[in-house]
Amino acid sequence: MLSLTGIHTFYGHVEALRGVDLQVEPGRIVTLIGANGAGKSTLLMTICGSPAARRGRILLEGEDITRLPTFEIMRRGLAHAPEGRRIFPRMSVLENLQMGAITTDASHFNADLERVFALFPILQKRQSQRGGTLSGGEQQMLAIGRALMSRPRLLLLDEPSLGLAPLVVKQIFDVIREINEQQKVTVFLVEQNAYHALRLAHHGYVMVNGKITLSGTGRELLANAEVRSAYLEGGH
Ligand SMILES: Nc1ncnc2c1ncn2[C@@H]1O[C@H](COP(=O)(O)OP(=O)(O)OP(=O)(O)O)[C@@H](O)[C@H]1O
Ligand SMILES: [Mg+2]
Repeated sequence: MLSLTGIHTFYGHVEALRGVDLQVEPGRIVTLIGANGAGKSTLLMTICGSPAARRGRILLEGEDITRLPTFEIMRRGLAHAPEGRRIFPRMSVLENLQMGAITTDASHFNADLERVFALFPILQKRQSQRGGTLSGGEQQMLAIGRALMSRPRLLLLDEPSLGLAPLVVKQIFDVIREINEQQKVTVFLVEQNAYHALRLAHHGYVMVNGKITLSGTGRELLANAEVRSAYLEGGH
């Protein structure tokens, strides 16, 4: 579905991604774990074309999207729920969801909205509330819901569990599994919560300083000594 070969991304002279190779097979949940500053968010943003890769190639369903502008990439069935949620704080929940649907055909808006409300019933109750006044967990649900409104085939999630209480984290991860299994959306998940992410993922990658250092099934990485000492200290 998504294939990255030799991706290098720079911020000015600083090389944030230093030759990344990575595959996301269709129908899968693939996760990328790594410490602060490893380059995880940069990788998701590079897939979306901003900042664009300076070297390397990104294929989406076989098509080379490396040099396409972001709006052209997003039209091809990709949605990004960015780090820190980035919902529209002064718009209502419903308006935020409408913004997510802006690139798609209006004829299926109601059905899509119902699907999002079925995944996150709290959003239905809070429809007219301003996004910025939602709790952190609710804002994360809204960010995912907004991304789903564009009917993606590939969903990019940047640290959806960040700053959330354990119970809410579990709820978010359960929904990610449901989106993948029932709605057949391929998921590429970036996380620092390595334990949850690797348990959920079919396949995982570890990034250190802009390079992939390890990859394997979620189960393999959970059992890997290096992963355990660097990302799973203290059990989880
Ligand atoms: N707009 C920018 N301009 C300059 N440098 C940047 C910019 N954005 C990120 N960087 C740098 O690129 C590197 C990778 O950052 P990135 O945000 O991709 O890391 P990350 O793995 O997502 O970290 P975190 O887990 O803290 O979110 C860091 O050294 C960061 O300081
Ligand atoms: Mg990040």
